[in-house]
Amino acid sequence: MALDTLIPNALIPDARAEAEYAAHAPSDHRKAWGQFFTPPRLAALMADWVAGARPGLILDPAMGAGVLTRAALARCPDARVVAYERDRAILSAADAGGAEVRHQDFLRAGWEEYDGAVMNPPYIRHRALRDHGDMRAAIGARAGYAIPKSANLYVDFVVKAACQLRRGGRGAFLIPGEWMGANFARGFKQFLLGPGGLQQVVLFSQRHVFPDALTTASILLVERP
Ligand SMILES: C[S@@+](CC[C@H](N)C(=O)[O-])C[C@H]1O[C@@H](n2cnc3c(N)ncnc32)[C@H](O)[C@@H]1O
Repeated sequence: MALDTLIPNALIPDARAEAEYAAHAPSDHRKAWGQFFTPPRLAALMADWVAGARPGLILDPAMGAGVLTRAALARCPDARVVAYERDRAILSAADAGGAEVRHQDFLRAGWEEYDGAVMNPPYIRHRALRDHGDMRAAIGARAGYAIPKSANLYVDFVVKAACQLRRGGRGAFLIPGEWMGANFARGFKQFLLGPGGLQQVVLFSQRHVFPDALTTASILLVERP
């Protein structure tokens, strides 16, 4: 079934802020920050999963121009959404739709609990990460899973966001499909199937999700045990 038949149009966010930003931001800046945007229909599907937990408080750890935040608010209009974003340039172009925006590094932020999380984190290979070891160790210690050096940055985001879900809380995380066969996959799978609460994985071929990036994509649907 085509994805676009599953969700009413009213719940699909527009992507004007993303289009406007992409038209002006230098591509090396976008690449350095991992700024690839969630297609609006996928954002709506992800929000739909999270809505099943009847969330009052929803987290978007890597807001970008805000498409996931807006999808969450469209699907859960009574919820409060807290959105993190580190890059000032994209923040000034974002449409957060009324969410509480924090100009902070999500990975260094606190550990408050949420009922739901929608996330498309930055994908950055480990060779490009600088001064990251202590933070990774701190997240791993909290999760009870030593995240290996070779892991992509999105692993830290998934582990931290999953740990910040309350029991029964739901997360929808859009990440590349490569994790299933990557060097760091074993421990990551164990984490996901245990405390991470993985329920389903939706896999997409590359051209269906990110027309401007050479990557496969998967959505992890989690529910905290
Ligand atoms: C893949 S984009 C996703 C944007 C948006 N959520 C979406 O789905 O279209 C990831 C975003 O995370 C931001 N980011 C990178 N590192 C971050 C950090 N440590 N804390 C918070 N945001 C970060 C990037 O600037 C980028 O806008």
